[in-house]
Amino acid sequence: MSNSKPHPMRAPDATPEPSSRAATSLAGAARVSRERLGEARVLIVGDVMLDRYWFGDVNRISPEAPVPVVHVQRQEDRLGGAANVARNVAALGARAGLLCVVGHDEPGERIVELLKDSGVATHLERDPDLPTTIKLRVLSRQQQLLRVDFEKTPAHEALLAGLVRFDALLASHDVVLLSDYAKGGLTHVTQMIAKARAAGKPVLVDPKGDDWERYRGATLITPNRAELREVVGQWKSEEDLRERVDALRASLDIEALLLTRSEEGMTLFTAEGSVLTAPAVAREVFDVSGAGDTVIATLAVMLAAKLPLVTAVTLANRAAGIVVGKLGTATVDYDELFGADVR
Ligand SMILES: Nc1ncnc2c1ncn2[C@@H]1O[C@H](COP(=O)(O)OP(=O)(O)OP(=O)(O)O)[C@@H](O)[C@H]1O
Ligand SMILES: [Mg+2]
Repeated sequence: MSNSKPHPMRAPDATPEPSSRAATSLAGAARVSRERLGEARVLIVGDVMLDRYWFGDVNRISPEAPVPVVHVQRQEDRLGGAANVARNVAALGARAGLLCVVGHDEPGERIVELLKDSGVATHLERDPDLPTTIKLRVLSRQQQLLRVDFEKTPAHEALLAGLVRFDALLASHDVVLLSDYAKGGLTHVTQMIAKARAAGKPVLVDPKGDDWERYRGATLITPNRAELREVVGQWKSEEDLRERVDALRASLDIEALLLTRSEEGMTLFTAEGSVLTAPAVAREVFDVSGAGDTVIATLAVMLAAKLPLVTAVTLANRAAGIVVGKLGTATVDYDELFGADVR
């Protein structure tokens, strides 16, 4: 049940981790002191989940049905969704506050425990009828045999209580980060954006689904290619892409859009119409899952530390390049991002 094991989808003797220090010399990008990051306060709101892995041996086929019988020997748990985003904020040395709904169950307790270990301040609403979102994988010999999902939309009462709590938390945070995994935790996202903007706080959104009207007024939205395509259709060229994004931003009153493009890096579309394409900086790619969480977490931290948007994007791209080159942990810390010698 240790968290320091290799990535559960990889063989323990897979290629070793490359030196992340070597991949992170900070040519040209802004430096920000550890102290300044320590004062940056990010409020994360969204869908939390638990990623659970069961490992075991298969020695026979079940007498009940033509399926393998797995004798489970080990369990490993990871924070997922908005909880993974919050963990990334804390790993950079900033202050992470997480507002979310969980159930009164064992996975809910496990999430609370892991968040505490990660240094995240949790602001929980409990819904007694909610099965906490959990994705359970059953693996044998590095092979995934089955995934079992438990999830349900939280009750109205818990969501409304969360909205009230959001009001109270706004004043003590610099930036709001909304991490949408379409599990219902962000039912009141439009009101949250309006309240945050009225309070003068930047709002970053990691979107899901094809209804972006609900993200109206956000400061920055960070879709990946498939998520953007779902909303604006397939673009024919970079120019066409830019036109589609500009029209979308204008219609939804969104200041900036950062398109994350996996191995192609990322492109920032801003209100000024400027475009910055940063190539992905990964030396070697081991594990790309969760890179999007690291991107938005890094952006939020850097904006909360009052860095300019373009600098924040450069650092987020750097962080993503580091995290995809890692096995086992899906976070980047201060030393990895800036180099240990930087004060
Ligand atoms: N194969 C890759 N090679 C290099 N960099 C990558 C690769 N995949 C992802 N990245 C980096 O991670 C960033 C985010 O990845 P991506 O666009 O796949 O986001 P995502 O689909 O939201 O990820 P996820 O949902 O799995 O967290 C990219 O902009 C890039 O910087
Ligand atoms: Mg994503």
